Amino acid sequence: MNDSAVLLNPRSVRDSQSEMAEIVLPNDANPLGALLGGRLMHWIDLAGAMAAHRHSRHYVVTASIDHLDFLVPVRVGDLVILRSSVNRVFRTSMEVGVKVWVENYISDSSHHVSSAYLTYVAVDREGCRLPVPAVVPEDDEEQRRYEDAGRRREIRRTELERRRHRMR
Ligand SMILES: CC(C)(COP(=O)(O)OP(=O)(O)OC[C@H]1O[C@@H](n2cnc3c(N)ncnc32)[C@H](O)[C@@H]1OP(=O)(O)O)[C@@H](O)C(=O)NCCC(=O)NCCS
Repeated sequence: MNDSAVLLNPRSVRDSQSEMAEIVLPNDANPLGALLGGRLMHWIDLAGAMAAHRHSRHYVVTASIDHLDFLVPVRVGDLVILRSSVNRVFRTSMEVGVKVWVENYISDSSHHVSSAYLTYVAVDREGCRLPVPAVVPEDDEEQRRYEDAGRRREIRRTELERRRHRMR
């Protein structure tokens, strides 16, 4: 097998799952001491890119971020945990799910803050798109995410077409 064939060997979800942690500092917050939504979006993008890089072993660019809800406020001093995993690979793109938790170590509590689906495209140094190895779901949860990712891709494509049509 040549090098490029080896690079395209399917990989498990587990192999590229990533976790990132941030302590919310005053510079991350608004004047009321609550985490800025934009800062959390930045961390979500980084956490998602970690899994995409690890899985594809290439540079990646963010093609899209789906809808985001912020379910609970996050305060200065809280610990934010972001977990990411590759849900499904298409050809040069992959959907990554990022789930965000907030932990308060004083009250020993943990809450779900947000979930996001991002699409990354693998590229080389010149920005040319590259094929990505398949991801292999290994349990029921990974299988469910894999199938849901297929449905979300169809919705994204339809929406993108509609937007392009409107812009013409
Ligand atoms: C993302 C990008 C590479 C796609 O380029 P393109 O010319 O539309 O390429 P294609 O139509 O051939 O699509 C390539 C892949 O991206 C996917 N894609 C393109 N636009 C997408 C979008 N808005 N949402 C999700 N997937 C998208 C396609 O479905 C295709 O996936 P596949 O190969 O797995 O089937 C290009 O739009 C780009 O470079 N955008 C800027 C990225 C960027 O700067 N991000 C922010 C900073 S990192």
